[in-house]
Amino acid sequence: MEQFGTITATASVLPEKIITNEDLSKMMDTSDEWIASRTGIRQRRCVTDQETSDLCYLVAEKLLKKRNTAASELDFIIVATMSPDYATPSVAVQVQGKIGAMTAIAFDISAACSGFVYALSLAEKLIRCGSKKGLVIGGETLSKLIDWSDRTTAVLFGDGAGGVLLEAGNEQKLLAEHLAADGTRGTSLTAGYHHNASPIYTEDSEGSFYLKMVGRDIFDFAVRDVAKNIKEIIKDEPVDYLLLHQANLRIIEKIARKVKVPQEKFLTNMDKYGNTSAASIPILLDEAVTSGRITLGKKQKVVFTGYGGGLTWGSILMEL
Ligand code: ACO
Repeated sequence: MEQFGTITATASVLPEKIITNEDLSKMMDTSDEWIASRTGIRQRRCVTDQETSDLCYLVAEKLLKKRNTAASELDFIIVATMSPDYATPSVAVQVQGKIGAMTAIAFDISAACSGFVYALSLAEKLIRCGSKKGLVIGGETLSKLIDWSDRTTAVLFGDGAGGVLLEAGNEQKLLAEHLAADGTRGTSLTAGYHHNASPIYTEDSEGSFYLKMVGRDIFDFAVRDVAKNIKEIIKDEPVDYLLLHQANLRIIEKIARKVKVPQEKFLTNMDKYGNTSAASIPILLDEAVTSGRITLGKKQKVVFTGYGGGLTWGSILMEL
């Protein structure tokens, strides 16, 4: 019998340490006024002693507890992240080991701020191909990728993790999707370059470990390509909520005007957490579920839209 992926639980974990704009203005030449007016961000969370895998593990535990599910029931764990602890083992396989999901396959995907949407799309295909249950988690510790002396990027990002439990059901819940990528624009946002220190390697390495972004290019890309992508997904169908990657409030306001959907349908929380890349959409979803705005099983139509490094972007329309 045909089966489809259904989101049956949501969870999120934020580090305790809060860094306000005021705190940042004591560390670099910036101000609450500049940051809040340009981005909508007022504070962010930063890890003091946790890795990305620690945050994702806590999300996984919460998800299993919420549905009273044993780790042994999981078929897959996918983590979307651009700030893994190691190149290997992946964050997902560390989570698999810690929760003891020994029959689950586990792997990370790297699609920057589109990571959760990419991972959710892929996970839903795994369910259509026969998997019964799995975790899709977005988790980041971007604080380690940031040059804390660069005010143009340091004020934008935060740490956190969120995720969903995806289970097989008979009803089609993923109604439409449109994912995209454009590697020719990849230099607009780079992070995590590792110099090749091998004695065999002869070139001078040019990349930077720290996150570098041509902010204006990403802004324009988001307003143009991402708005078009959302229009293609929703067509003229009414939707209940749109959960976009939380990079910048001004981007969301401009997209709302372009797609002609009332601003209040676009949920936001970047004021509290900044840009948490692959974690931003599942954190936002979990908050919406916790606050009662979204009730799983109530058949609300929700759009998830990611966009960022790669460049990558994409939207999924789901009935929750
Ligand atoms: N505090 C004070 N002044 C600052 C700061 C700061 N933190 N940062 C930059 N400035 C200054 C600049 O130096 C510049 O000064 P100048 O005019 O004297 O040269 C001035 O403010 C304007 O700088 P811009 O970079 O032009 O500012 P802009 O209005 O474009 O806003 C921003 C920058 C917020 C980064 C915006 O471009 C943006 O949001 N871009 C999109 C980012 C995004 O969406 N990323 C998502 C993907 S992230 C991912 O995939 C991981």
